[in-house]
Amino acid sequence: MGSFASALTFSLVSTFVLTSPAQNLRQAADQDGLLVSTAVRPSQLTEPAYASTLAREFNMVEAEDAMKWWVLRPDAATYDFGQGDELVRFAQAHGMKVRGHCLVWGRSNPEWLTQGHFTALQLSRLLHEHIDRVMGHYAGQVFAWDVVNEALDENGNVRSSIWYDEPGIGFSGHGTEYIERVLRWAHEADPHALLFYNEAEGEGLNRKSDAIYAMVNDFKRRGVPIDGVGLQMHISLADADIPAIAADISTNIARLTALGVQVQITELDVSLPLDSSGLARAEDLSRQADVYRAIVRACLNSAGCTAIQTWGFTDKYSWIGSHSRGARGQALPFDRTYQPKAAYRAVLEEILAGRSTRH
Ligand code: XIL
Repeated sequence: MGSFASALTFSLVSTFVLTSPAQNLRQAADQDGLLVSTAVRPSQLTEPAYASTLAREFNMVEAEDAMKWWVLRPDAATYDFGQGDELVRFAQAHGMKVRGHCLVWGRSNPEWLTQGHFTALQLSRLLHEHIDRVMGHYAGQVFAWDVVNEALDENGNVRSSIWYDEPGIGFSGHGTEYIERVLRWAHEADPHALLFYNEAEGEGLNRKSDAIYAMVNDFKRRGVPIDGVGLQMHISLADADIPAIAADISTNIARLTALGVQVQITELDVSLPLDSSGLARAEDLSRQADVYRAIVRACLNSAGCTAIQTWGFTDKYSWIGSHSRGARGQALPFDRTYQPKAAYRAVLEEILAGRSTRH
C-alpha cells in the first residue's frame, strides 16, 4: 500500500475510533465525566460472566453489604475487612472508583451492638472508633462515604435508632445534632473523603426531602462538613407515575445542588410485579425502561448530579426478591443471563445524549 493510501486508511480508522458512539455504559459515562456504578457482593466476583459484565459496564462500585457493621464487626474487638478489601482489589484492577456504604445506620448492625445495653458514652466511643478505623483503613481507596443512612422518617423527623435515642450517642432529643457530630468525626478520620447523607423515599418532593434540604442548608451555612446527598431510588413500578417522577426528582436535585452539594443516585432499581411463576409482563418491561430513562435524565439535567448507581445489575442477584417475598423482581438493567434489557438501552441512550440535551 502506498504511503498516501496508508495515511488515508489510518486517518479513516482513527476518525472512526474517535467518533464512534460508545458501545456500553462505561464508555458513554467516561465521555461525559459521569460515574456509573452498581452495588456488589464480593462473593459473586468469582463468577466470570458477573465479573466481566461488571468491569465492562461500570466505572465505580459500592459494597452492597461488605462495609456494613454486621460484616465488618463480628464482635466488639474485631474488624474484618476481608470482603471489603476483595472489592477494593477488584476495583483497582479494573480502574474503577469505590464508594463506601455505610458508617451510621439504625439497621444492619450486629447483635452484640444492638443487644449490648451500652450507655450513650460507650456508644459514642464505639462509633467514633469505628469511623476512625474504617475510614482510616480505606483512606485513599474509598473516595466517598455514605456516612449516615436513612436517619429521617416519612414526616421528616429524626428516626429512632441506636445512635439517636436508643439510647443514642448523647444527642437524644436534639434532632440532627448527632448527624452533625458524626460528619465532623468522619471529616477528621479522612479529610479527603467526600461525605454523603444517604436516604430512601426522599427523592421527589415530600416532607422527608424537605427535611433533608433543610438539614443540608443548615449544615452548609454553619460549615458542617457535608459534600453530597445520596438519593436511593428504590422504585416499585406499580407506584411509579413517570411524568411526576421526572419533574419532582429534577426539582429536588436542582434545589439540593444549588446548596453546593453533589447529588448521587445511589440505589436505583425498578421492581416489577411478578406472577405466580415469577414472570413479569412485557409491557411492564417497557415501562420500566421509561422509568430508568426518566431518572437518568433527571440526573443529567443537573451538573451537580455526579453518579448513577444501580442496586446490583443483574436480575440473577437482587435484594428485591427476598425483600418483597417474591412478589416483585426483575428490577435491574440486565436479565438473569446477563443480557441487556430495554432498561439498559434506555440508560445508555440517555447517557449518550449527554448533559446538554433537555427533554
Ligand atoms: C440491603 C442489601 O441489598 C441486602 O443484601 C441486605 O440484606 C439488606 O440491605 N437501603 C440501603 C441498603 O441503604 O443498604 C439496603 O441493602 C437496601 C435499602
